[in-house]
Amino acid sequence: MAILHCIKDAPVKQTNSLKIEGGTPLVGTVRASGAKNAITKLLVASVLSDKKCIFYNVPDIGDVDVTVALCREIGSLINWDREKGILEIVTPELKTSYIPQRFSGSNRIPILMIGALLGRTDEDIIVPTVGGCQIGKRPVDFHVEALSRLGATIEYREMKREGAYFAHAHDGLKGAVIHLPYPSVGATENTILASITAKGTTVIKNAATEPEIIELVLFLQKLGAHITVDVDRSITIHGSRRFYDVEHTVVTDRIEAASLGMAAICTKGRVFVEGADHLHMITFLNKLREVGGGFQVRHGGIEFFYDGPLQGGVHLETGVHPGFMTDWQQPFVVLLTQAAGSSVVHETVYENRFGYTETLVEMGADISLFRQCLGGGCCRFASQGFPHSLVVRGQTPLKSKNITIPDLRAGFAYVMAALIAEGTTHLSGVHFLKRGYEKIVSKLTSLGADISYSQDNTPKI
Ligand code: EPU
Repeated sequence: MAILHCIKDAPVKQTNSLKIEGGTPLVGTVRASGAKNAITKLLVASVLSDKKCIFYNVPDIGDVDVTVALCREIGSLINWDREKGILEIVTPELKTSYIPQRFSGSNRIPILMIGALLGRTDEDIIVPTVGGCQIGKRPVDFHVEALSRLGATIEYREMKREGAYFAHAHDGLKGAVIHLPYPSVGATENTILASITAKGTTVIKNAATEPEIIELVLFLQKLGAHITVDVDRSITIHGSRRFYDVEHTVVTDRIEAASLGMAAICTKGRVFVEGADHLHMITFLNKLREVGGGFQVRHGGIEFFYDGPLQGGVHLETGVHPGFMTDWQQPFVVLLTQAAGSSVVHETVYENRFGYTETLVEMGADISLFRQCLGGGCCRFASQGFPHSLVVRGQTPLKSKNITIPDLRAGFAYVMAALIAEGTTHLSGVHFLKRGYEKIVSKLTSLGADISYSQDNTPKI
């Protein structure tokens, strides 16, 4: 294993606060990184086999750090060149199938270890309570139900500090037809992973088909899987255990690409986002065009530019792919604060993803929340009492504020708001941003933003 020696991870900077002086248009070229929600799953998928996988375009972000630590914990040997974005991983044998409690609540990745390991060990796979951003209840009932249909036994047990899922498939996994109640990204991934080594054929109906799922499918096909995606949201997997080494370049992060584009337009600037992939951003670009945001799809990326005053009066509804991503919603709401007229946003993926708007209102935005489904049909949260629709009225100037970032995507929305706002904004809780945005400060600085790390000693008001 000459080339796969483990290197020590680079030290994480302790700076947890940002200072942003608003008012400067972003101008220049910036490269969007590899997708967080793809590479983290691909690393987990690699542990299905003992083959060597080499990934390119790997972002140096907190969630990859956590996933690398998780894979090392169970026996993966990993060599990650952060500067080049190349990561090699091989898991010759499992050291353990117990995921320690320190991973509890870290993100949504540990639960996928159940699907990846069920076919590789007879031992119990023990996964502590999963986490992720606090944007709704985020249960894993669809995962548990689907894996059980494949023959797994999964129990939730209380442990010393917190609960954990205990899973095994002592009688082996067998293919089945599984109908997901909702096209959940995580449940689709977990079911795909488990079905790769199950005996026979698995059909996942009502599966998620997000580009990050297709990315997983592409990776698994290279690894040796026989897997088909149909137009009716069905994914069919014929089980097999014949695996091959893989080389894979991680798809561009469509959330980061769109967010950088929106930041360019909000600040009345012009930014070429290298690597932005047109195919995965069609729905976003249509909405951007509706509000008058400028963009040009060019060779190797997309250029975003201010093309005159933005026009609101739009209805936006988040949804599963190919709908408008829930992770584009927060920066788009900031964009709508700068568009003339009233717009309606209906969040249908998460029941509680508007918490961040309170701070925007304190900065000067005119946003009202509603418990009804506004603007279109009813979603599964109708009559459940969650504030999951909003009306935003623009254009409103924003003023600076001291802000504590509550979650990853709210974090970027606040960065955008601070870039527009008059005065100096201090943002603490920057570790949330680092979970998903690579080199965010140097990228924005290279575009002319006045942004820097500061000590976490901002006055608490
Ligand atoms: N759901 C259930 N039961 C389940 C699974 C999901 O009720 O067993 C519900 C969730 O509560 C939610 C909805 O189904 O209301 C969608 O959840 P999904 O499983 O699709 O989301 P996820 O796999 O937990 C991933 C991304 C999210 C992204 C969503 C939707 C990762 C690590 N996370 O989450 O990304 O918003 O899909 O596309 O891939 C982010 O990057 O900031 C982020 C939150």
